[in-house]
Amino acid sequence: MNLEKIQSRLSAQLTPKRFEHSLGVMDLAVKLAPIYQIPPEPPRIAGLLHDVARELPAQELLSLAHDFQIPVLEIEEQIPVLLHGKVGVEILKREWGILDPDILQAISLHVTGAPEMSILSQIIFIADFAEPGRGLIFSDIAKKLAFVDRCSALSYIFDQQIMYILNSGCLLHPNTIEARNKLIMTGSLS
Ligand SMILES: [Fe+2]
Ligand SMILES: [Fe+2]
Repeated sequence: MNLEKIQSRLSAQLTPKRFEHSLGVMDLAVKLAPIYQIPPEPPRIAGLLHDVARELPAQELLSLAHDFQIPVLEIEEQIPVLLHGKVGVEILKREWGILDPDILQAISLHVTGAPEMSILSQIIFIADFAEPGRGLIFSDIAKKLAFVDRCSALSYIFDQQIMYILNSGCLLHPNTIEARNKLIMTGSLS
């Protein structure tokens, strides 16, 4: 499937706002690719498709996770939206023919981050937070950091996400905590 076909299929499945966000993530991820010395094609596809399952209702995410035999953590049962990366990966494999393991890993990990992330996964994680369509001051700061120093950008994003989650009284996914701790201890996720 070429990029045009992927875009038109995706736009038929997402709300206009989510589709615009997906285009924003794609554009920023492609701009970051040469800075982090990877080719532009994987960030283009992963950025565009990262939220393919983001608008599925909670119950459907849980039942698809069950059907796809995705192991579901207790926190993911409580907050099924956390599964939209993992469920998205299975949908992309089965229905879209997207099989590149690095693209699929980046889509799986963009929701929480993880202590081990490829450069592509890091780019998608950063671009998801920093794409300009979010219109947040935090996104703008993260975007500026991303063009200067990848680890500073990641560190900033984890801190912002964790503070947001704490302030809203929600549960923190263990991957997010582990990723942030590893970044502080080793200065890297790869
Ligand atoms: Fe997402
Ligand atoms: Fe997103």
